[in-house]
Amino acid sequence: MHFLRQGSIETVILRVVLAPLTRQRSYGNVPQPHAILYYSQRTTKGGLLIAEATGVSDTAQGYPQTPGIWTKEQVEAWKPIVNAVHAKGGIFFCQIWHVGRVSHKDFQPNGQAPISCTDKPLTPQIRANGVDVAQFTPPRRLTIDEIPQIVNDFRLAAKNAIEAGFDGVEIHGAHGYLIDQFMKDQVNDRTDHYGGSLENRCRFAHEIVEAVVNEIGADRVGIRLSPFASYMESGDSNPSALGLYMAESLNKYGIAYCHMVEPRMKTVGEKVECPESLVPMRKAFKGTFMVAGGYDRGDGNKAVVEDRADLVAYGRLFLANPDLPRRFELDAPLNKYNRDTFYISDPVVGYSDYPFLETTA
Ligand SMILES: Cc1cc2nc3c(=O)[nH]c(=O)nc-3n(C[C@H](O)[C@H](O)[C@H](O)COP(=O)(O)O)c2cc1C
Repeated sequence: MHFLRQGSIETVILRVVLAPLTRQRSYGNVPQPHAILYYSQRTTKGGLLIAEATGVSDTAQGYPQTPGIWTKEQVEAWKPIVNAVHAKGGIFFCQIWHVGRVSHKDFQPNGQAPISCTDKPLTPQIRANGVDVAQFTPPRRLTIDEIPQIVNDFRLAAKNAIEAGFDGVEIHGAHGYLIDQFMKDQVNDRTDHYGGSLENRCRFAHEIVEAVVNEIGADRVGIRLSPFASYMESGDSNPSALGLYMAESLNKYGIAYCHMVEPRMKTVGEKVECPESLVPMRKAFKGTFMVAGGYDRGDGNKAVVEDRADLVAYGRLFLANPDLPRRFELDAPLNKYNRDTFYISDPVVGYSDYPFLETTA
């Protein structure tokens, strides 16, 4: 995978990445034909799209109607979606995901407890829609012998993603989900060699990166991290040290990119001003560095010009503007996003019905 180098002429357009966005429209955990239109609308020739978080196994799920990539049916269902993105010249990575303890027994096979690095329960949380309250079943702590199976699930998911036609995978190591649960000291209370020191807490993430790299090749692998985020009760006492340690230690794998969420993202969708910065991690990581979180056209371009990032991922703005790169190029006005339709299961409304520039006026 060859990403842009500094100074490329396509600076504005091709540095605009579609951030991974859960849309909860994959009925029965199977990607649906309506995703063909949604993703192809958001494709620009040479631009990178990251698919919504996609479960690696039947224990990976924690939300209704989110896609998976562990069955043959799911792999087949992704194919026409990936083909549509490729037909328009896009580069498409699949975000592979395990929610860990952010789940309920109703999402789990045989109603079993969700798995995590810990058995500490998660208190009920207000859902992203700001209204509903999500309940979680107390997790079961993985035994040390079980960890290789979960690593293997990520490896198989990556293999399946390549079979489905994706150009690569983004390992979801952010936002309080399983990999993040291992990394963060607010959650991880293990006393074996997966807990305690930074090196130990990051071991699970490293094992997954290594397994996935060995399976599909380093140039097809990215990882997303949110060291500063603390949602889902997954904070760390020293996020700068964690972020820096991961940025440095990932260098040995030569992966396609490292994608970090800005410290200013207090929740998945709320931006606050803060003094921390990703610049030390950007400097420590030797490959392509992607940032996300609260960016608009102006500060995204500024981040690239000031060499604080190679790529900028846009979430909510891209959700609401299928032609976001073109609008940025022209500095055109943007559609506003509607939070109420982010996670509804409608195959069209709030999904593929945001207007393109030509039809906006
Ligand atoms: C509707 C919605 C769904 C999201 N789903 C995911 C997801 O599946 N995986 C992920 O890593 N982040 C997810 N995020 C976070 C976004 O990728 C992004 O980091 C966040 O929206 C901040 O960027 P923005 O200010 O450009 O929207 C989601 C955010 C929103 C609003």
